[in-house]
Amino acid sequence: MLDWKSLPRPIVALAPMADMSDLPFCLICKEKGTPLMFREMVSSEAIVRLNPKTLNMATFDQRERPLVQQVFGSNPAVMAEAARIIEERFAPDAIDINMGCPVYNLVSNFNGASLIREPERAHAIVKAMKAAVKVPVSVKTRLGWSKDTDCLDFVKVVADAGADLISMHGRTREQGYSGTANWVRIGEARRNVPHLPFLVNGDITTVERAKLAMEQSGADGVLIGRGLLGNPWFAKRVEAYLQDGTLLPEPTWDERVATVLAHAQLQIDHYGERGLVKLRKHLPWYFKGTPAEKTLKPTLVRISHYLELKTALDQANLDNGF
Ligand SMILES: Cc1cc2nc3c(=O)[nH]c(=O)nc-3n(C[C@H](O)[C@H](O)[C@H](O)COP(=O)(O)O)c2cc1C
Repeated sequence: MLDWKSLPRPIVALAPMADMSDLPFCLICKEKGTPLMFREMVSSEAIVRLNPKTLNMATFDQRERPLVQQVFGSNPAVMAEAARIIEERFAPDAIDINMGCPVYNLVSNFNGASLIREPERAHAIVKAMKAAVKVPVSVKTRLGWSKDTDCLDFVKVVADAGADLISMHGRTREQGYSGTANWVRIGEARRNVPHLPFLVNGDITTVERAKLAMEQSGADGVLIGRGLLGNPWFAKRVEAYLQDGTLLPEPTWDERVATVLAHAQLQIDHYGERGLVKLRKHLPWYFKGTPAEKTLKPTLVRISHYLELKTALDQANLDNGF
């Protein structure tokens, strides 16, 4: 079980990402030194119906620990029952509530970011879930719905309901992913609940930006999403840089290729052959910024078999003289 208050600082964690932060990717991140994982969101309604696909999404490998399972939903009783089932069946180290997702399908049902506009409902959800489980219950949210100051009161609401940690993405729901993350505003929200552990999130793509996000927000740690895609080495580099300014080297081409193949094998082990189709959206991220990026991408997004992937990477080796 996680104790957010006593975890060594700075906390460095993989953010929950639907279809991305699943078992194979979390294992890869773990192997490359990511200290803590937030798993992709699962539907509370589907969990209480014991939907096999959703239950499978919440299954994890013990090597992934410490691990936080995120849940979304709008009904406090259903959220509490889903948390209870997740704790009983899978025993993650903590449970997180999605109060930040901007996607229409979620917000139109009072899920995700729409909970920022429904503070009473948000309060009831945290309270009910806290009463249902022993593990810590945290909240991941945004600056606001349309105003980037909504968070200043909202953090007090979820803290009052008993949340053990808040992670905040420095954009509003209206912004989606446009503009830049406002880490200073996250700092203002953080100061309204000074006793509560806080993670800063959004646009942390370099070690220098991680340091700036920490300085501007005064957070206890960073939650990194896209910065870790295709770049599972990044969390360890961030951790070292935040600790004492150490700059760990970037991965070599050979390390990249070996990691992609290891990720592909884990996909097959976990999902069967269709695992490589599911891997397609990860693949271009691994080669972003490398000389092979442009030539490899069209092949990578059509990969269906391990051998095809291996052949494409061998060819890139030859073409680029690695
Ligand atoms: C593909 C994708 C899927 C995401 N899925 C989730 C999710 O399941 N739950 C959640 O709270 N946030 C989700 N997010 C938001 C991220 O956790 C994070 O807040 C956002 O990407 C900003 O951080 P970043 O700039 O480090 O990526 C997702 C983001 C992306 C790009």
